[in-house]
Amino acid sequence: QNIILAGIPMDAGKHRQGCRMGPDAYRVAGLEQALSDLGHTVTDIGDTHPDQVDVPEDAHLFSLPECVGWTQALSRTANEVAEQGLPIFMGGDHALSMGTVTGMAAHADEIGRPLFVLWLDAHSDFHTPSSTDSGNLHGTPVAYFTGQPGFEPFPPVTTPIPTNRVGMIGLRSVDPAERAALEKDDAMLADMRSIDEHGIKTPLLAFLDKVREANGILHVSLDVDFLDPSIAPAVGTTVPGGATEREAHLVMEFLHESGLVCSLDLVELNPFLDERGRTAKLMVDLAASLMGRRIFDRPTRSF
Ligand code: ARG
Ligand code: MN
Ligand code: MN
Ligand code: MN
Repeated sequence: QNIILAGIPMDAGKHRQGCRMGPDAYRVAGLEQALSDLGHTVTDIGDTHPDQVDVPEDAHLFSLPECVGWTQALSRTANEVAEQGLPIFMGGDHALSMGTVTGMAAHADEIGRPLFVLWLDAHSDFHTPSSTDSGNLHGTPVAYFTGQPGFEPFPPVTTPIPTNRVGMIGLRSVDPAERAALEKDDAMLADMRSIDEHGIKTPLLAFLDKVREANGILHVSLDVDFLDPSIAPAVGTTVPGGATEREAHLVMEFLHESGLVCSLDLVELNPFLDERGRTAKLMVDLAASLMGRRIFDRPTRSF
């Protein structure tokens, strides 16, 4: 498979800085080699930059003009690179998904297949610019690309993803306004409680069945804080009680076997907070599992 690595040194989605170093941390941790060792053709197209836009600063929203510029640039870039293979967007904070998902949605539209989104995150990131308390736009991408109102300075969403094509796994920090909005809606929500009860594979396989039945393609957005902070400390928004290393690999392995994944965001890695690169290395290993790394080549279900 052709894989395109795109660096997105975006730090504008929140106050705490450091995610801009994410793309280089993935390069140093050996993402390209890990993927080419699996037999893929890997091209690193370097780092992307935000468009220059004429939007005034906002008193409440942090770095609004830069976020708008990134969204515009990334939506275009994602749509372009999707034609050449499977893009891996090396973030950068989670506000980058406003651009990558809308760009992939346009691409899916062009090839006539519905785009589904799997959100692997402690947070639902379903705030709108008016509901966010923090003013951090990395808490808003899902509301944006599903076409919720109130994102006026941002590019209009021409191909919104209906919420019934969104699946969230790993939830354990959802603000009241997000919760109220999500409870009215029909996204697949697998919080940690339901993962404890049913195991992580139950909601995942149910969601993948849905994608397959609709002849859809799947964008995966992997936030570092999906993982438990004890194994992934390099993120500004740690929440205890996250996915284990084994659960995360299992998700990646099922995603690979589904053959449905068209694109991947690796977001919120803050190398400034890492311990000897362990979080960057774990994210590289997870990306490798998603792209086909396995312990044995024979079927795993042949007991
Ligand atoms: N809900 C909180 C907020 O709006 C946290 C969002 C965290 N998002 C993330 N992509 N890490 O500020
Ligand atoms: Mn296109
Ligand atoms: Mn997130
Ligand atoms: Mn998060």
